[in-house]
Amino acid sequence: MSETKRYHVAVVGATGAVGQKMLETLEDRNFPVGELKLLSSSRSAGSKMTFNGKEYTLEEATPESFENVDIALFSAGGSVSKQLAPEAVKHGAVVIDNTSAFRMSEGVPLVVPEVNESDIKQHQGIIANPNCSTIQMVAALEPVRQALGMSRVIVSTYQAVSGAGNEAAEELREQSQSFLNGKELEANILPVKGDKKHYPIAFNALPQIDVFQDNGYTFEEMKMINETKKIMHAPDLSVAATCVRLPFFTSHAESVYVEVEKEGVTVEQMKQLLEEAPGIVLEDDPATQTYPTPLSAAEKRDIFVGRIRKDLDDPKGFHLWVVSDNLLKGAAWNSVQIAESLIANEWL
Ligand SMILES: NC(=O)c1ccc[n+]([C@@H]2O[C@H](COP(=O)([O-])OP(=O)(O)OC[C@H]3O[C@@H](n4cnc5c(N)ncnc54)[C@H](OP(=O)(O)O)[C@@H]3O)[C@@H](O)[C@H]2O)c1
Repeated sequence: MSETKRYHVAVVGATGAVGQKMLETLEDRNFPVGELKLLSSSRSAGSKMTFNGKEYTLEEATPESFENVDIALFSAGGSVSKQLAPEAVKHGAVVIDNTSAFRMSEGVPLVVPEVNESDIKQHQGIIANPNCSTIQMVAALEPVRQALGMSRVIVSTYQAVSGAGNEAAEELREQSQSFLNGKELEANILPVKGDKKHYPIAFNALPQIDVFQDNGYTFEEMKMINETKKIMHAPDLSVAATCVRLPFFTSHAESVYVEVEKEGVTVEQMKQLLEEAPGIVLEDDPATQTYPTPLSAAEKRDIFVGRIRKDLDDPKGFHLWVVSDNLLKGAAWNSVQIAESLIANEWL
């Protein structure tokens, strides 16, 4: 970015899986950071982190932390956002929140810039970043929906452990070592930290991400369903989701089935639409076994799409494989894109 004006930025949850990527992304984008505050819980307060070659001391996040802050990037969990985001707004900051605290709240734009950037301008102090698995799916589907119409989406996810934070990634590391050394596996974090029951993630697959709802879906699945409709402004779109945690560290992969409204659409047309879509990279060639994987997508800001096929029974049905780094486009990069848009459009 070329702006000369600098902005005072606070990163809440700076030591976390998302917070660390937030700092890397601000650096990579040469974001016009003036003063920077790195905030955490009392556990990490006093420890040091480096940004752009300069050392910063972590401070405990309190309501007073937000004095003179222009942009506050929150990724410290929903309860912290619920408590401190309104305080940041009172101090005049614009909050970009990575948690689910405000995503479905009236008056809070829920934004994937490739899909609904103009919603940002309606903010009243808080802008919500969608759930990581929602972001990559809606960015891939919106260009298709705009061009061909869309009646139904059915998604199954294959999600990395880093989506549950640094502790979950550590649990996978420890369990993998234990398993290979023939030891008993101890599970304390996944599928949900603090929930009644825990299952090993190493060499396993857990069909539960976040807590169960009364309708039998998990909260992660309901996030994908409800957030998709809000972001696309499509309350009548049929969306169903099954979310699964798998034992790899980075990137979420998704098998997405969509039914378009237009008749006679070919796979080539679908590929062309996605090839031209912002933020999307098409990697699709069965002849050369070309398709994205969680490893190939890791550390990249784009969303990768491959395995595009026509359904064998429904002529309006298509299957897609969508992969993206959950900590970048799924969290830090989407937040920084929103911050860049706030500045570029003078919506701050
Ligand atoms: N991981 C993802 O792919 C992803 C994607 C989208 C959204 N999110 C959301 O982003 C949030 C953070 O996720 P994460 O994966 O980064 O988790 P994480 O690795 O567990 O990090 C949590 C961060 O929150 C801080 N924190 C915890 N309690 C706090 C408190 N009371 N006050 C201030 N800071 C506190 C921690 O600081 P300490 O060092 O002091 O403990 C740490 O910096 C969650 O709400 C998550 O749902 C995550």
